[in-house]
Amino acid sequence: MFADKKKSFARLFAGWFACLAIVCGAVAVPSVACAAPEFTFNYADNQNKDYPTVKGAYRFAQLVKEKTGGRIVVKIYSNAKLGDEKSVVDKLQSGEIDFARVSLSALTPYAEELDVLYLPYLYRDAAHMWRVLNGPIGSELLTKTNGAGIVGLSWYDAGVRSFYMSQKPVRAPQELRGLKIRVQESELMADVMRAFGAEPVTMTYGQVYDALKFEKIAGAENNLPSYAAMKHFEVAKYYCRDEHSRIPEMQIASQATLNKLTDEDKNIIFECASLSAAYEREEWAKREKEALAKAKKGGAVIVELTEKERAEFAKAAAGARTHFTDRQKEILTRIDNEG
Ligand code: GCU
Repeated sequence: MFADKKKSFARLFAGWFACLAIVCGAVAVPSVACAAPEFTFNYADNQNKDYPTVKGAYRFAQLVKEKTGGRIVVKIYSNAKLGDEKSVVDKLQSGEIDFARVSLSALTPYAEELDVLYLPYLYRDAAHMWRVLNGPIGSELLTKTNGAGIVGLSWYDAGVRSFYMSQKPVRAPQELRGLKIRVQESELMADVMRAFGAEPVTMTYGQVYDALKFEKIAGAENNLPSYAAMKHFEVAKYYCRDEHSRIPEMQIASQATLNKLTDEDKNIIFECASLSAAYEREEWAKREKEALAKAKKGGAVIVELTEKERAEFAKAAAGARTHFTDRQKEILTRIDNEG
């Protein structure tokens, strides 16, 4: 409380001093300089500028600026300019990066419960996943990395992931046997590939295009918007809709950054994060359709799988995780009951 008062006073004093300096002509500043930001924060995302998650980031920044009267400015660094997801999370933990949006898999080393949220074929559909994320389970799990200095702000949509292959389509797990498939830096996803009989190859998102092009891997897996945004259809034209996993994404903040703010400002950050998440979901829905059209136009062959074929993938994937802690079992039961 006292610390907050001190921060508010410091803020007032800084603003007053800045204005006085301008009036006195002590510093050369533009006409709106009284609203000079008190904080300028950075925000990392590995997608490109017009991708739904980055649009969400811009919306977040715009709202924060508006609601703080320009005192807090958030600068967006898209296209992995601040590093791949793993290093972004490390830098955010140390306070070098203030905000980010990452795939949930990048956060599971910090909280084992998060693994459960992206098990293959866990959700019956997108609506089921959103009931879970927007309900009590989602709220509880959003704070699971807080202890590690990584504060969960909101859930972002990332649709559903499927395989894409450069040489031939896959319609059954047996067809993946022995093939090298790129996976995120995630133990769980590596185990899923092994359960399908494939050989997981770990690499960052930015490395996938060349790995496909130079045949270091036979395929990869991701949602349609990523497949289209990264032009992976140019080097892996068979997009096979087995829809094996939904990996939600999280908007996160560094605890070190939030520590600099008053409770009032922290509430603004949380509010803007949640408003930006609603906006991102709308953008995501639009982008899924556009991505399908873009991929097809670029030569992708979209392979639709029957329910029976998907069931075969689901059966194989069930072997990926056979042991769960009591806590994980409890979450799984609750997710199932949300259905
Ligand atoms: C999605 C996600 C990225 C992630 C990528 C991956 O595209 O939006 O944040 O890096 O999957 O497969 O690594």
